[in-house]
Amino acid sequence: MKVLLANEYGFCFGVERAVEMVEEAISNGASVRTLGPLIHNPQEMQRLAHEGVTTIQEPVQIKRGETAVIRAHGVTPDVQKELEEKASKVVDATCPFVTRVQKLAARAAAQDRHVIVVGSPDHPEMIGVKGYAPDHAFVIRDETEVAGLPELRRPLVVSQTTIKAKTFFDTADAVRSKTKDTVEVVNTICSATRDRQDAARALAGMVDAFYIIGGRHSSNSVKLLAVCKEQCEKSFLIETEEEINENDLVGVERVGVTAGASTPDWLIRKIVTHLEEIGERLSDSLSLKL
Ligand code: F3S
Repeated sequence: MKVLLANEYGFCFGVERAVEMVEEAISNGASVRTLGPLIHNPQEMQRLAHEGVTTIQEPVQIKRGETAVIRAHGVTPDVQKELEEKASKVVDATCPFVTRVQKLAARAAAQDRHVIVVGSPDHPEMIGVKGYAPDHAFVIRDETEVAGLPELRRPLVVSQTTIKAKTFFDTADAVRSKTKDTVEVVNTICSATRDRQDAARALAGMVDAFYIIGGRHSSNSVKLLAVCKEQCEKSFLIETEEEINENDLVGVERVGVTAGASTPDWLIRKIVTHLEEIGERLSDSLSLKL
């Protein structure tokens, strides 16, 4: 049984950078607290917890002497200020692609223009971006919500970094139809999610079984599962190697592996090794039968 990894998988640039920044803070002896879980991967969170990293839900929980970490999603300027006032140090691990959206929103708001952000209003990234354009930004899910917007002033349309391109462009078109004012459209979608999906799709048609390694609450991992299932019926979303059922691999010649953007490399390697061991066992038992 051959184990084949997709061309793109695992940590995206922003998550890798955030984890590295936390590691660096730990190695400097800091007492590190992240505002919200650093990433959607329970195994990596457990590993960081063993290194002393704890999670807080509100900035008010941070104390002097502690290092506060802003995760890749970013926060509002108010939250950042509160952290800076309370913590001894703030490590800002906001993904640079998210910072770009924040800056674009702030610039448009400073020019008294409206900002339409296409995304999920309750997503932390969107809450953070909205904070950069108070009284000027509207976060809407898709084009169906454009009609409900007020009259727009020279709107800027940007996107949550992880949404589908079609949703973004359809919404931008709906905004253009709504107003006669100039509309500026800046595509701020990050390619990491799409690259992982394209690579998984390319591999799914060539294998008999597919394992997607990722947290059950990681939306990009759940999407990867859906993409793989389209071409490979035996596709499974797993968090650890213990969830692999050997019976699913009987008769399988090629097994594909990919991982969500918050799945660490050490976990992927562990699972790939486990799959290779299963492959060897199954082939040994087959030769014995023959
Ligand atoms: Fe950043 Fe894209 Fe990852 S926005 S956090 S590199 S998914």
